[in-house]
Amino acid sequence: MRDLTEENLTEVVIRKLGDTDDPRLKQVMSSLIQSLHAFIREVEPTQDEWLEAIKFLTEVGQKCTDERQEFILMSDTLGASMLIDAINNRKVDDATESSVLGPYYRASAPELEYGDSINITNEGDSLEVRGLVSDQYHNPIKGAILDIWQTAPNGLYDVQDDKQPDMNLRGKILTNRDGRYFFRTVRPASYPIPTDGPVGKMLSALGWHPNRPAHIHFIVSAKGYKPITTQLFIEGDPYLDSDAVFAVKNSLVANFIRPESDSSQNTPSNSASTLQNEINYDFHLEPTPRAQS
Ligand SMILES: [Fe+2]
Repeated sequence: MRDLTEENLTEVVIRKLGDTDDPRLKQVMSSLIQSLHAFIREVEPTQDEWLEAIKFLTEVGQKCTDERQEFILMSDTLGASMLIDAINNRKVDDATESSVLGPYYRASAPELEYGDSINITNEGDSLEVRGLVSDQYHNPIKGAILDIWQTAPNGLYDVQDDKQPDMNLRGKILTNRDGRYFFRTVRPASYPIPTDGPVGKMLSALGWHPNRPAHIHFIVSAKGYKPITTQLFIEGDPYLDSDAVFAVKNSLVANFIRPESDSSQNTPSNSASTLQNEINYDFHLEPTPRAQS
């Protein structure tokens, strides 16, 4: 391995993978090395530019804490997260479409009852969310778990905001015997992803805005079905067509509707204070493949 050149270096590095036992690691690293070298040949970075790139990745790592994941932000804003999501969750028939998990999920959300509120503070515009969890053929699934999280009206998750109680706007709710779920919350707000780190600097340099349309996150799971990680968006949001993390799909955009009781009210003068927003949205899960016997 001497006298390596621009022409033969890639081939020599890949040949070295012949000593690697793990076939998947070998495949991944071979592709990574080829793509990386192809990128370098195409861009021809100066040495200063390459050091700048290494400095950027170093800062991304240094920005990460238990509450802040700058690498996920980088992956999300470059479209990598949604591409990986699309490859791993190819749409099957009527199954609900997936979207990215995002960096603010907490596995330990409180278990709540049907109809409970996930809003601990009582601040914000009330919102009721209800619907059916079923299989692809609309057969209800009893006991499905909906793991839910969202921002407060100020656009912040509890982990970003000292003023919010712990676990505010998070909860786990089961479907009832008819496969239906119902919870109360507040209208989520569109929000900018954090811009005080290297990813924010990158967005600014590219002239890309950091905003995400308002959404509610869900992980819906049930025994015998493939869990679905997704987000529910609200029609009319100004960022639906320019989401900073590319996560919007048409099938995940819901309209506000008014509760049935309000349609019978004949007192519009006081309806503004009594009306609350409601979303009806059904989730369809795909069965997990049966084990081969
Ligand atoms: Fe989010």
